[in-house]
Amino acid sequence: MKFFIDTANLEQIKEAQAMGILDGVTTNPSLMAKEGISGEENVINHYKAICEIVEGDVSAEVISTDYEGMIKEGEILAALHPQIVVKVPVTENGIKAIKYLSSKNIRTNCTLIFSAGQALLAAKAGATYVSPFIGRLDDNSTDGVELIKQIVDFFNYYGFETEVLAASIRHTMHIIKCLEAGADVATCPLSAIKGLLKHPLTDIGLAQFLADHAKAAKK
Ligand code: G3P
Repeated sequence: MKFFIDTANLEQIKEAQAMGILDGVTTNPSLMAKEGISGEENVINHYKAICEIVEGDVSAEVISTDYEGMIKEGEILAALHPQIVVKVPVTENGIKAIKYLSSKNIRTNCTLIFSAGQALLAAKAGATYVSPFIGRLDDNSTDGVELIKQIVDFFNYYGFETEVLAASIRHTMHIIKCLEAGADVATCPLSAIKGLLKHPLTDIGLAQFLADHAKAAKK
């Protein structure tokens, strides 16, 4: 399972990268806005800065909603760096844009997936990734992890090459459940990635080891 960080914050990306476990980054317009990034030049420079920090895929989302605009933006984003994956929403124009971009060998991440049917259309159009938003489904009394399982199963059954990128992950149990469900990628906030380290028995065990070592050294 690949681990992406879901942020546009360069410090957090550097921190995850320094742990040596990072396979890529996903961003979206809200995450970019949260970092105060706006204006075409700043946005482009920010994506380039992210690509310099990590070695893996970096999802950069289009803002246009019309087909022509999506493909124009997608081509500009893809030309920025070989690591860029163009993120496109699962609308009718988005599916057409994914079909076009994939025919030009531009990799895409189809975002805002909330149903198996949407994932099917994205896979048929040639998306590299589909991003089901599991936290937002959970927020709406629907089991997000169940959707991951459903999509993984039908992609495997029919041999789709599109990877399932579990997004809108909120906490460590989401990550574990996505592992069990067979997600190819989990994109997580840094807090959830670091949360995987936490166990009280690890802290107790380490404290005991160090105390025993100190005691033996005094003898
Ligand atoms: O990158 C998209 C996604 O992960 C958004 O997460 O927490 O805003 O639902 P969230």
